[in-house]
Order: sequence, then structure tokens, then C-alpha cells
Amino acid sequence: MNFNLNFNNVTQNYLFAEVANRTAKYAAAHPEKQVLKLGIGDITLPLAPAVIKALHSAVDEMSNKDTFQGYGPYEGYDFLRENIRTYYKSNGVELDVDEIFISDGAKSDLGNILDIFSAENTVLIPDPVYPVYVDTNVMAGRKIIYANATAENGFLPMPESNIHADIIYICSPNNPTGAAYSKSQLKEWVDYADKNNAIILYDAAYECFVKDKSLARSVFQIDGARTCAIEFCSFSKTAGFTGTRCGYTVIPKEIKKDGGSANKMWLRRQSTKFNGVPYIVQKGAAAVFTEQGQREIFANLEVYNRNAKLIAETLDELGIWYTGGKNSPYIWLKCPHNMSSWQFFDYLLENAQVVGTPGAGFGKNGEGFFRLTAFGSEKTTFEAVQRIKNLLKN
Ligand code: MLT
Repeated sequence: MNFNLNFNNVTQNYLFAEVANRTAKYAAAHPEKQVLKLGIGDITLPLAPAVIKALHSAVDEMSNKDTFQGYGPYEGYDFLRENIRTYYKSNGVELDVDEIFISDGAKSDLGNILDIFSAENTVLIPDPVYPVYVDTNVMAGRKIIYANATAENGFLPMPESNIHADIIYICSPNNPTGAAYSKSQLKEWVDYADKNNAIILYDAAYECFVKDKSLARSVFQIDGARTCAIEFCSFSKTAGFTGTRCGYTVIPKEIKKDGGSANKMWLRRQSTKFNGVPYIVQKGAAAVFTEQGQREIFANLEVYNRNAKLIAETLDELGIWYTGGKNSPYIWLKCPHNMSSWQFFDYLLENAQVVGTPGAGFGKNGEGFFRLTAFGSEKTTFEAVQRIKNLLKN
């Protein structure tokens, strides 16, 4: 047997595992200190009551021989796919139900989708960005080129006509920088993909934070995207499903090449390697789209939006440069005093017991930057910004 030696080319630990390890080590050595975590973007508010009610009722259905469910459809139950279709319609996007595939989250699908593409493809990935895109392609041995996201371009790189790519990753609003593409900027990416016969893998996991109407909530709001884009989304951040697990991927039927259809290949892939998301969980996810569900998740999102505002205002007061925090739950800041990302991570942990995520973990252009999440509780966020203020005000 031989191992896949591409694994030698990824960092030893996944970024958020590394942050968790270092935090746990510090906490074990300083049990008297209270550590406040604004690192991984994990939600802190419980599931909405409408979701809980639907979950309970689905559990009851599973206890009755007349309503019990065994294996579900590989692509997800129609009751949930229909709700997602209606949600897209409310954003002006028409989809067919069989273009929507339910999964256990955007992260898995973003990694698994690579099964349907040739290993010979060249991949264009923004730097910095969510590390899953790079790590999964490195594991598969694909050639990666980078689109530099920098303070100069507002962390929103645009296509360069002299560079060819086959697979393009876009995350908007972006993780980690919080920067979000306008519809006209996304149109340039769609035209570029079209010209290069490329596919855009569009991560819309944070679309629910977009308030500004000029920004896209879905790549399919852009003309021409149906022939060149696949969209990934999740209930994790929208409705607090990080521990419950449910997401979806949209693959238009128009994405075809050499007699193959991405939609059909993905169904073939999923039916071979995946037995679907639990019925109970899909029932809970469907309740997100009820009137009560929408009202309740909106109230939760407002808490995170207020946290983001508070962090941003604190940085304004301290005169620290940052992006994000407006149409995004992430705040991306320049480390003070030219500290490196990991230096600032240690400095903040040791002197304020606040955990964030080092920008360098998201790519080389992230060096010298640092990410704070607005997904902490209101109490944690308030306490963390006081500590940051006290530490950095001088
Ligand atoms: C993050 O902190 O970047 C996210 O929580 C990671 C994820 O969604 O997998």
C-alpha cells in the first residue's frame, strides 16, 4: 500500500484545529483565567423555537410505524427542496427543484464536489480564503494558482484576462475578510468563467448577512451564471445548524461538457457515497422557511449583526484598520504594531485571554491580519472588546 503523498503538502493541522489546540494548551496552563473565544465562526444562540418544534414532531413521527422514515432520497426530501426553491425565488432566482441537493453542510460539498472534476484542472483560489478550498485541492494534487486579495483591492480580487483557470472559487461575503462582491463585480467573474470554459464554485454560506442591495446574495442573480456556476450554502450560519448539520448545493442543468452533466454526475456521486441527511434534521431545516422560523432566525442574526457593529466601533475607536463587519459576521483587522498574525494571536491570548483566528492561516496574504467573529454571545463579545480596548488603547 502507498499513502496519498499529497497529504505531505498540507499543514499538519487544519487551521481551526490548530487554534483550538493552542487555546486548550493555554487554558490548561492558566486555569484561573477566563478565555473568551472569538476564533472559529461557531454560532452561540440556540436553534429557533420553530425549528425545535419541527425536530420534536419529526422524532415523534419516527416512533410510529405509519410515519416512520427509512432511507431518504439521496438528493434530499422535496419538502425542503421546495422551500429552498421558494427562498431563491424571493431573491429573484428561478430554480428547478432537481437542481437543489441537500447535504450535511457546505464544507463537505465544497470538498466532495471535486470528485466530478478532472485532476488535471487548474484551480484559481483567492488568497486569503477559507482553507478548505486549498487543502482539498492540495490533497487531490491539483495545480493551484492564487488570486491575490489585498488591502489595495479591498480584498476583492478581480479576474485577470491573461490567466487561465478551469475551476474558480469565490466566497462572498468572504470568509475571512468579510468583503463582499457587488453584482457588477460578480458579472466580471461570470464573463471570465464563460470565456475560459471554467466553473465557479460559489460559497454563499454567509449570504444571510448581506443587507446592501447592490451586493449579491446568490451567484444566480447574475446573468450567465447558470452555465458556469455551482452554489454552496448552509443552514449553519443562517439558522444555527453548525452542530445539527444541514446545507445545500445548487447545480443548474445547463452545466454540461463533453456529453456530461454536472447535475447528473453529482447525483451519481451522492447516491454512491452518501445516504442523505436525516429526515429529522431536514424537517428542522424546512421550519426555517416558515413565517415564524424566518422571524426567529432574523432576530438571532440581528444579535450577531450587533456584535459585529460593536467590534467594528471598538476598532474605529482604537484607530485599527479593518474590513468586514457590515454585510458579514467577520471582522478582518490589521495586526497592530506590525505584529505577525500568530504573534498577535499569542499577544491577545496571553494578555487579554481573547482568542481570534490568525490571518496567516487563510493564506500568505493574510499574514499580518487577524479575524474576529461576531458569532460569540453578546456577553462574551462585550467583555472581549473591553479587554481588547484596555490592552490596545496605549
Ligand atoms: C470559520 O470559522 O471559518 C467557519 O466556522 C468554518 C466553517 O464554517 O467550517
